Amino acid sequence: MIRSAVLAITERSWTRRLIMDTPPGRRVAQRFVAGETLASAVAVARSLNDEGLKVSMDHLGEHVTSVDETIAARDAYLACAHAIAGAGLDANISVKLTQLGMGIDDGIAAEHLGEIAVAAKEIGTTVTVDMEESTYTETTIGIYEKAQADHGNLGIAIQAYLLRSAADLDRIIPLGGHIRLCKGAYAESADVAYQGVSEVNRSFDRLSALLMASPDTKPAIASHDDGRLTPVLVASESRTEPWEFQMLYGVRRDRQRELATSGHDVRIYVPYGEAWYPYLTRRMAERPANLMFFARALVGG
Ligand code: FDA
Repeated sequence: MIRSAVLAITERSWTRRLIMDTPPGRRVAQRFVAGETLASAVAVARSLNDEGLKVSMDHLGEHVTSVDETIAARDAYLACAHAIAGAGLDANISVKLTQLGMGIDDGIAAEHLGEIAVAAKEIGTTVTVDMEESTYTETTIGIYEKAQADHGNLGIAIQAYLLRSAADLDRIIPLGGHIRLCKGAYAESADVAYQGVSEVNRSFDRLSALLMASPDTKPAIASHDDGRLTPVLVASESRTEPWEFQMLYGVRRDRQRELATSGHDVRIYVPYGEAWYPYLTRRMAERPANLMFFARALVGG
């Protein structure tokens, strides 16, 4: 698959250096990342809010290797909650559990997630747990279930490409949190994930229909693919409970504004921070044209 090939190239250390340390690489990153500081993310969130778009703030980082790094990540999220309140933003928070310690010590990750959920609750907002590689799906859902039972202001991402996702929805819809449905951004094998574009799309449509018909959850439909958005727009005509679209900062900006202008809730995922490289590689793998854009800029100087 093209996705696996692009991710394999970008995982090499020379590619990483080439992208992180050259002006063309940083220019591509600027399209998708709101900046390296919390202040820059707050400024981006402010301007998105001013255009009628809601925001989810993501302090970039994943797969940290020490407890100190997990504490720093937790503190960055507590500062983020403080900044959301201070700036009066219409924003929630997205977290990756491998940034909070999942994989090193799952108990620490659960504890940090609880602290972030409490801080979010104090400012009247929610926390979404991103979904990472399939090796972490079961642990992620387990940590989410406990945090949602304890605090009640969380949600979780579910990936349509995973074979297990329909069963996971049956398990988590009754918990009442919001559920972000996305296609899935990692390289996964055929024993756990659909490999073909049309199979993934079919799965997405099946799961989005299920979510839109579930009054007990708030569906967050996370896609830029009009083929996936259209059936959701039709289903929304008979839904009275809240739901929203979610899209990534820098992807299909015109469509984001168009949907918001026509009265839909649209939330933009706003990543910020110094650890932007793995996030950028996934955006390149989704659309190899992004990698070509970088390559051309590099050759052209
Ligand atoms: P698709 O990839 O078919 O794209 C549809 C169209 O959108 C393309 O034709 C192009 O125009 C545009 N587009 C999409 N990606 C682009 C890019 N990178 N650059 C430029 N244009 C692009 N994944 C995951 O595994 N775990 C998670 O927690 C999340 N969280 C998440 C949150 C939000 C808010 C969104 C929108 C997405 C995620 N994802 C994710 C990523 C998701 O799984 C998926 O990889 C991307 O959204 C791309 O899939 P689309 O549904 O947009 O379709």
